[in-house]
Amino acid sequence: MHSSFFKTLAILCIGGLTACTQPAQQDNKTCQEAVQEEQPNAVIETIMSRRSIRKYKPEPVSRETMETILECGINAPNGMNKQSWEIRVVDNPDFINGITEVYKKANPKAAEDPSFKNMFRNAPTVVFIAHDPGYDCSQIDCGLLGENMILSAWSMGIGSCCLGGPVRFINTNPDAAPYLQKLGFSEGYRLLYCIAFGHPDETPAAKPRSKEKIKYVE
Ligand SMILES: Cc1cc2nc3c(=O)[nH]c(=O)nc-3n(C[C@H](O)[C@H](O)[C@H](O)COP(=O)(O)O)c2cc1C
Repeated sequence: MHSSFFKTLAILCIGGLTACTQPAQQDNKTCQEAVQEEQPNAVIETIMSRRSIRKYKPEPVSRETMETILECGINAPNGMNKQSWEIRVVDNPDFINGITEVYKKANPKAAEDPSFKNMFRNAPTVVFIAHDPGYDCSQIDCGLLGENMILSAWSMGIGSCCLGGPVRFINTNPDAAPYLQKLGFSEGYRLLYCIAFGHPDETPAAKPRSKEKIKYVE
């Protein structure tokens, strides 16, 4: 759905550029204004329609699609282009189910939910992101990296959920240490958060947002 949306936008842009080589329009609108008024904006549409997904179909996201998502991630703006992140992609069920067993042992109630499959909101693919605590903007870099991944994924019909809870567990539970070690982050990097990815199996409604937090300062 979303990829065809991009194709449509590309056709419209090409069409729009061609039209802009023609003489000025009668109603004095610029071509850009005319195109913007008539057509939805793919980026805004993707941002506004995205929701956190917590139910997924079992198959993992193909590595080819993940490559596109990761490429979009690392093209995020980042302080001084230091790229102060490290990224680990896990789609191996042994890893995901193994760490989930450790989680279940510590949180037996979690597994009582009949829809519970794993500690990453049941997703088949998880991206772990580590930051450099020695650089004061590293967490910002990692956040922007993640949002690029989340939005590019959604534009291709892939759902996601940004996750802090599981990482808090992995960073603090001694029984989870072998899994943290397996992620193999470099010395000096610390696991910050993870993002679950998968083919959505639900269409949650938007949660309300408050505009009261926004103020223009004159
Ligand atoms: C830093 C961060 C940590 C989050 N941690 C969790 C989490 O541990 N579990 C979870 O289900 N969702 C988690 N979320 C997802 C939020 O609950 C979700 O983004 C928020 O409720 C707004 O809903 P929406 O994403 O559908 O717009 C997290 C989101 C962020 C940005």
